Amino acid sequence: MQRVYLDHAATTPVSPDALEAMTEQLRRGGNPSSLHSAGRSARSVVEEARERVAAALSADPAEVIFTSGGTEADNLAIKGLYWGRNAGGSSRPRVVVSGIEHHAVADCAEWLARRQGARIERLPVDTDGRTDPADLERLLAGGADDVALVSVMWANNEVGAVQPIARLAEVAAAAGVPFHTDAVQSFGALPLDFHGSGATTMAVSGHKIGAPMGVGALVATRTAPLEALVHGGGQERDVRSGTVDAPAIAGFGAAAREAAEGLAAESERIAGLRDRLVEGMARAVPEAVLRGPAELGREHRLPGNAHFTFPGCEGDSLLFLLDMAGVESSTGSACNAGVPRPSEVLLAMGVGEAEARGAQRFTLGHASTAEDVERLLEVIPAAYAQARSAGMADHAPSGRWA
Ligand SMILES: Cc1ncc(COP(=O)(O)O)c(C=O)c1O
Repeated sequence: MQRVYLDHAATTPVSPDALEAMTEQLRRGGNPSSLHSAGRSARSVVEEARERVAAALSADPAEVIFTSGGTEADNLAIKGLYWGRNAGGSSRPRVVVSGIEHHAVADCAEWLARRQGARIERLPVDTDGRTDPADLERLLAGGADDVALVSVMWANNEVGAVQPIARLAEVAAAAGVPFHTDAVQSFGALPLDFHGSGATTMAVSGHKIGAPMGVGALVATRTAPLEALVHGGGQERDVRSGTVDAPAIAGFGAAAREAAEGLAAESERIAGLRDRLVEGMARAVPEAVLRGPAELGREHRLPGNAHFTFPGCEGDSLLFLLDMAGVESSTGSACNAGVPRPSEVLLAMGVGEAEARGAQRFTLGHASTAEDVERLLEVIPAAYAQARSAGMADHAPSGRWA
């Protein structure tokens, strides 16, 4: 059976260049911290990759701190900035986050509130999933001396809504507050300019751009008040210890270069396929409701993102029926202990619980083709009819899911 992968936001296949760079370094070996030739050769591979990642993000190489992925980069930013801003007797308990952050950010903030005395303040989003800088202005207007940090993602992983990052960062900077942005879904999909954005820190991940899983980076200005989370040899700017993963980083560098070079043409190609998917869905399943920004331009919405709610069915049922028909998609939010739950992002956008449970996200990437879209549109009417006849699972809603 023809398999169609429409879940590139979850992970995207490793690119041939990244695979080659990685395997070459795996074969060569060497610890980048060693002083002998093998070590120096591994170090030069890491530094070359750092330059490529920095160039792709309009940052300086010295601002790139390699991590084990997006989750660690977000943890380093949120906890590291919180501790840095509360060091030396300062008291800054307020943590401002948007209501649509990924768990890698949202759960850090919640942990800080539970265990470290932080007070979370959430920025609302509109029905498209967008934050409004005026809300941040209002939050900070009453005094921001006690605010540790502000965090708003560059673009949302479920509904693809692109946020007004430069304006939000400007508001935070005017109040003297560090600004973090989770750009994991935006890297490789949108042009990212770290310096131009005005952000203090920015998280990116390798496996969303064609590098392997388990590598990513936190981009941080030289003056970002970051405390280390992982202590040891101080390898990455003294804020992230551990022998650096030279092969994975070599792959990340290769993928970053490819992503940057091909960005304009590739994002246009992918957006074209996504537009066909959205138009086609209106005919294939007229009941489907597009969620996230209705304007599909890349200043509003990630080029590869199409997200719908399908009335009267569970997103999980639809996912499994599509999978049986050879199409791989996502509900957007994971389930906890097998119990389907509505997405917090959709609820924050004002979508009702029953509707939110029928969510299905289709995300396109570098391997996607027009045939993939046609195949989805062919199989979805029957899958939807079957999922709808199975109906909604009867369970009590709960507040939290993984
Ligand atoms: C917005 C966002 N942030 C963070 C992460 C976590 O990145 P990683 O899988 O590299 O830990 C993801 C992964 O899905 C994501 O979509």
